[in-house]
Amino acid sequence: KVDLWQSDDIIPRETLISKIKAKDGLLCLLTDKIDKEVLDSAGDRLQAVSTISVGVDHINRSECTMRGIKIGYTPEVLTAATAEFAVGLLLSTSRRIVEGTHAAKRSNSVFTACVLVLLVDDKTTDRVGTILILRIANFSHSYFFKYLCVQFIFFFNNNNFPFLKLKQWFVFVTSFPDLLRESDFIISCCSFNQSTDGVFDKEAFKQMKNSAIFVNIARGGVVNQDDLYDALSRNVIRGAGLDVTTPEPLPTDHPLFTLDNCVVTPHIGSASEKTRTEMTMLAVENLICALENRAMPAQY
Ligand code: GLV
Ligand code: GLV
Repeated sequence: KVDLWQSDDIIPRETLISKIKAKDGLLCLLTDKIDKEVLDSAGDRLQAVSTISVGVDHINRSECTMRGIKIGYTPEVLTAATAEFAVGLLLSTSRRIVEGTHAAKRSNSVFTACVLVLLVDDKTTDRVGTILILRIANFSHSYFFKYLCVQFIFFFNNNNFPFLKLKQWFVFVTSFPDLLRESDFIISCCSFNQSTDGVFDKEAFKQMKNSAIFVNIARGGVVNQDDLYDALSRNVIRGAGLDVTTPEPLPTDHPLFTLDNCVVTPHIGSASEKTRTEMTMLAVENLICALENRAMPAQY
């Protein structure tokens, strides 16, 4: 028997716990916390948990392993869409698009003047950085994109290279402190685990350039949000674009929403129609394969 949660709302935890009883498989989202209690409720029948996400930090992996429950996930199919979204956040913040929209609504001509000053002051970063990051998006299928994802963050330092040289790629893998000190744009696209929990904290923001733009498309937990608020409100860094927060959704009265230099989106990095369809198809295939005792196309 297939039980389907039909609503657009996140399935309430109690419902999940009661519905999962004696099921063979579970198709879930990253908003569903699959912990020991849920697995206990499922009982011995459960063979597979298939999540429609690339991240698996919402699933208790060691409990699954102990019980012989397979985990399916959706890597690759969302990489390009999510990279694109990171570029979107980068442009929205560095080019102040969201802020500009608000200014336009208020017919704020002072804002327009300010933007001009910003562009003149920071020509290199603006032009070169933007093109570089667009190229990163174009390269989303390349080996080193994946490598750098695993390695935590893209790092590029464009300051020393004249514009024309950008036809080639300059990518440096470096230490975290050097990365913080030297980057104009820092994009967090790591997985969330013990070693990345809260790494973007007061100390990290202090090491960044005052002109730095921080983008997070990973998990809210990699950031100490109080420290980020502090850094943004005191201009320790210039701006932030966050597709992920703690918690999600972020309460509407959260202080981050009061900042002009912070763009927040509701975890929609992979949310293109095509990508979400591909993710869903892959997750369903993962589940069916597991239940039929065949290899999952994408087992975690
Ligand atoms: C998105 O955050 C995902 O893990 O799929
Ligand atoms: C911009 O719109 C320009 O005309 O320079």
